[in-house]
Amino acid sequence: MSKRVDLLVGAQWGDEGKGKVVDVAGADVDVFVRYQGGANAGHTVIADGQKIVFHLLPSGMLYPGKLCILGNGLVIDPEQFLNETSDLFNRGQDRARLAVSPHAHVVMPYHKMLDKLQEEARGKGRKIGTTGRGIGPCYVDKYSRSGLRIQDLLDENILRERLTYILEEKNQLFTKLYNQKPLAFDEIYEPARKWGNAIAPYVDDTRALLRKAVDDGQHILLEGAQAALLDIDHGTYPYVTSSSTSAAGAFTGTGLSPHDLTRVISVVKAYTTRVGEGPFPTEDFGEAGEKLRTNGGEFGATTGRPRRCGWLDMVALKYSTELNGADVIALTKLDVLGGMGDIKVCTAYELDNGDKITTWPTDTGILSEVKPVYETLPGWNDDISGCKSFDDLPENAKSYINYIERALNTPIVLIGTGADRTQTINRGF
Ligand code: GDP
Ligand code: IMO
Ligand code: MG
Repeated sequence: MSKRVDLLVGAQWGDEGKGKVVDVAGADVDVFVRYQGGANAGHTVIADGQKIVFHLLPSGMLYPGKLCILGNGLVIDPEQFLNETSDLFNRGQDRARLAVSPHAHVVMPYHKMLDKLQEEARGKGRKIGTTGRGIGPCYVDKYSRSGLRIQDLLDENILRERLTYILEEKNQLFTKLYNQKPLAFDEIYEPARKWGNAIAPYVDDTRALLRKAVDDGQHILLEGAQAALLDIDHGTYPYVTSSSTSAAGAFTGTGLSPHDLTRVISVVKAYTTRVGEGPFPTEDFGEAGEKLRTNGGEFGATTGRPRRCGWLDMVALKYSTELNGADVIALTKLDVLGGMGDIKVCTAYELDNGDKITTWPTDTGILSEVKPVYETLPGWNDDISGCKSFDDLPENAKSYINYIERALNTPIVLIGTGADRTQTINRGF
């Protein structure tokens, strides 16, 4: 039986439109999987006039009858999970097909509190601009081996024992370092116990389920959250998230092996955005940036923050295409560039001393000082939101697509021409 395991990852700083691409690709998928990150993600799907933002659940949840998995690599906020699932179930979705790994870590209330306190302590100039969802502190506990896993919520004795020890340590932090009141055991334990009861029906051996699905020749879609430039190892550290957001994270986060993978789909937005702090060489503080934000509706799907906007950065994209081992590209939001006038594309960074570099620097700190070197490409004024095929697109839009394909040496097989599921050009996806 031939394998079909697609891995979809973001190529920039997140919000490339991964949710929409998963949804578009989904008709043909049997198993949808989230494998890293947590409720810091905001993946938007617009279908049949309805807009749904997924934070924890895979963006394939709208398709009836398909298996959706939350893998071991995730950090799961139980409250968020229960809210998100009940919203969907109220819309008539079937709960039987959702499986949660017992090994996923639990984002506890103290993680969210610590996330905020740490950001405050970093202060202006050093803060990361996190989503406040407790992601960093939860992954810290995972790696320091003082985390709670989903399976720990299912056994009251284990939960009590582990939480007693964990809270002792956390309360030292809250009282001595952050001048806060200590947390009362019952206020944390009681809700956690209830979350365990509510999540228990979903808990399953997700690795084994996936293994079987792959071996049975089912079509699997692994949905990355965040994106390569936010990767804990390979991103613009420390202005990153706390998980492995580039392709490699899919294996540790699911228990699949690298041999299982058949294709990497890199999702590239036709321009660049970033939310939160950190270097962004092509950020545009003028009219172009403002126009991209307005026309592209560039406001965070999780926090509502305005996204920082700028032109496409080919230096960054070459790096992330390499890092992710992209086989194909889904190019999103091409419609937003219509009416922008000439389009700029960054092909190099100019350093303080006038030298130009065309490859991603190892010291990403310098990215906040480099000047982008632009090539100018002709734009188009036509509204492309109704275009159904590549041939329907204005010549300059086609040239822009060809330019990116050539520069990244990777075929663009899906083109986004609007936010709706139907506004997509399939070019051999
Ligand atoms: P994700 O985090 O990568 O899933 O992306 P988000 O959902 O956070 O942000 C992408 C935004 O762009 C959402 O509001 C989508 O509805 C919207 N979107 C996705 N693809 C397109 C497209 O091709 N054109 C337009 N205009 N909007 C799109
Ligand atoms: P999706 O999946 C864009 C950013 C935050 C912050 C940094 C660390 O929708 O693309 P965290 O809360 O993860 O500790 O914040 O990462 N960030 C995202 N930016 N899209 C996301 O997810 C993001 N998830 C986290 O803004 O700069
Ligand atoms: Mg998003």
